[in-house]
Amino acid sequence: MLLITGATGFIGRQLVARLVAQGERPRCLVRDLRQASSSLPVESVELVQGATTQPATLEPALQGVDTIIHAAFMTADRKQSPGNNYEETNVGGTSNLILAARAAGVKRMIEISGLGTKPDKPGSYMQGRYLSEKMLMESGLDWTIIRPSVLFGKGAPFIKGLTELIETAPVVPLIGGGKTMFQPISVDDVVTVIIKVLQDPDRTNRKIFTIGGPEYYSFSQIFDMLLQATHHSRPKVYAPTPLVGVGAAVMEAVLPKPPLTKAAMALFSFNNTTDLDSVERDFGFKPQSFKTYLETQGV
Ligand SMILES: NC(=O)c1ccc[n+]([C@@H]2O[C@H](COP(=O)([O-])OP(=O)(O)OC[C@H]3O[C@@H](n4cnc5c(N)ncnc54)[C@H](OP(=O)(O)O)[C@@H]3O)[C@@H](O)[C@H]2O)c1
Repeated sequence: MLLITGATGFIGRQLVARLVAQGERPRCLVRDLRQASSSLPVESVELVQGATTQPATLEPALQGVDTIIHAAFMTADRKQSPGNNYEETNVGGTSNLILAARAAGVKRMIEISGLGTKPDKPGSYMQGRYLSEKMLMESGLDWTIIRPSVLFGKGAPFIKGLTELIETAPVVPLIGGGKTMFQPISVDDVVTVIIKVLQDPDRTNRKIFTIGGPEYYSFSQIFDMLLQATHHSRPKVYAPTPLVGVGAAVMEAVLPKPPLTKAAMALFSFNNTTDLDSVERDFGFKPQSFKTYLETQGV
């Protein structure tokens, strides 16, 4: 039995849809059964109510499970709130899941992490992501970690956020000068990689796969492509990183869904790139081009 955490998320929903289309019936750990029923094919999956932050819910959810795909993380673009914060969800939640998995005799866990995960200041978002990987590597379970670059595809949070900014702001801010490099990869291709990992436990055990699409783009180029795809024209202004950090802090304090969070600023402190042939080399297929996707399907 396969258990998916984060099944109602952007990646999780597409992963579930693909597995169901292949005739599988995964078990999905969901926090809200009613909401999950509107985003998941309830007839074809097994829904279990629970949360990684509520250890008592994990024992029944893990009965008979041999493999977990763990995608229940609080991403950096989400504003923290009581009971929903990076530390409790990403570090505490993963720790609870590993403990419960070991107790339940689960064999293997696949963690959906992010490109660039590395140690950082204690308590920071990035340190939490780093610890959630480290705990899994030291868990005694069989493990695989997948670290994608930013994603594109229908409803992709990164692209959606930038498109909304283009539609609402009079100018587009080039954080740190817009030079940070990204390697967008389609959610379809990430799901294909997850399924290939799932199907090949021997080759993928104890490995980290850092994956990105077939092209590199600077943040400024991504804005240009989105401006073109949405038929908008906006002046691009240089926005020094410290100033944007202050802006993000203010927006987080006053807006329920801020367009930028302080934690998301971490994404701009390094190039979000890996080898251009990462997917083809490790998984044997060519990932989709972001440019072609925009030209053929729009944002
Ligand atoms: N999207 C990207 O561009 C991107 C790029 C690189 C890496 N990733 C990584 O991929 C993973 C999945 O990302 P995503 O974009 O699919 O995230 P997402 O859309 O924000 O979904 C997060 C999922 O986690 C669930 N969740 C949150 N806290 C939970 C808890 N305590 N217990 C159980 N479930 C909980 C959410 O459930 P609810 O429905 O109840 O909120 C939701 O299903 C993350 O590790 C992310 O960093 C994403």
